[in-house]
Amino acid sequence: MVTSWNRPTTLIVNKKAIQFNIAQEQKRLKSGQELFAVIKADAYGHGAIEVAKTALLQGVNGFCVSNIDEAVELREAGILLPILILGVVSPTLAPLAQQYDLTLTVANEEWLRYVATNNDLDTQKAPLKVHLKIDTGMHRIGFNKIDDMVKSVQFIQSHPLLTYEGIFTHFATADEEDTTYFDEQVATFTEFVKKSPVKPKYIHCANSATAIWHEDCPTNIVRLGIGLYGLNPSGDVLSLPYELKPAASLTTELVFVKQLHVGDKVSYGATYQASEDEWIGTLPIGYADGWNRKLQGFKVLVDGNYCEIIGRVCMDQCMIRLPKYYSPGTTVTLMGEDNGQVIDANDIAHYLETISYEVLCGISTRIPRKYV
Ligand SMILES: Cc1ncc(COP(=O)(O)O)c(C=O)c1O
Repeated sequence: MVTSWNRPTTLIVNKKAIQFNIAQEQKRLKSGQELFAVIKADAYGHGAIEVAKTALLQGVNGFCVSNIDEAVELREAGILLPILILGVVSPTLAPLAQQYDLTLTVANEEWLRYVATNNDLDTQKAPLKVHLKIDTGMHRIGFNKIDDMVKSVQFIQSHPLLTYEGIFTHFATADEEDTTYFDEQVATFTEFVKKSPVKPKYIHCANSATAIWHEDCPTNIVRLGIGLYGLNPSGDVLSLPYELKPAASLTTELVFVKQLHVGDKVSYGATYQASEDEWIGTLPIGYADGWNRKLQGFKVLVDGNYCEIIGRVCMDQCMIRLPKYYSPGTTVTLMGEDNGQVIDANDIAHYLETISYEVLCGISTRIPRKYV
């Protein structure tokens, strides 16, 4: 999709906020622990390359992405730090991963056997680094039998072009008040680690929520995702023990302002009807930008005033009710701070009955990212 640079709708990414959030976590790292910035999905919509460069300046130790294309994008941009791909990559791509010095997640023994049988790894290059993913309860990917994990470790150890660099897991409920399931997952992971025939360099299990609320977890990497972007991973279920600053603001401008009279209707379906003389502003953002249709009835900020989104959100535009006349060109804040009032991604997510992650990742590439 072409980016609409000549429209006033912009996602502004504050690099200082990203650095602040990383620093907050760095202060809490224990001796031997490293911080990997999770910048999959274009850094949760913030722009992977810019976020990677910002995180580099702040001294992170590595990056996590979801797939090989995201990792190659970073290498092509000159990022040299370790990059761990968290998802399952086809074993046919193992040579490509080795070529780019990427670290792959291995979720079963068949994957390793395929790589060994096809024998495509380059003997002139450093061995391919792999981390074994342990399924301790997410039931998404990974080993769930200790014997299978042990066999795979032995297999890797016997293969000259593979390096057993890590073992890791991911928790399903680290952001919840009830820790029963979380504790079970920790116990299972601890058991797997104990039974691993050798201890790899990295043993890790901490996403943002784990790092924030379960400091004593057995991890030597913190995989910091949503916390890096300044949002509470739990929404508003658990309170943050320290400050995070949301890095992204979404702003636009009024492109059209008109007065409606009693009974005038707004947008598709004519679902909104003016109950008095009202000033209505039109915004150049709609559901094709990731500004969800279900945001009808939600609010934006104009001059520090919360203004309701009225009528159905269209593909490229939506309408708001203004407290008085404002001229076209007036700034409108859809996400961020305006005169002391704030709307953050968790507020939007709450209205949409989803999570901030989906709101951020959903902001389409039609909206330019600007870095300040
Ligand atoms: C395996 C893994 N680790 C770490 C993260 C980062 O999680 P968060 O954004 O909650 O910090 C994710 C994100 O989904 C993940 O899948």
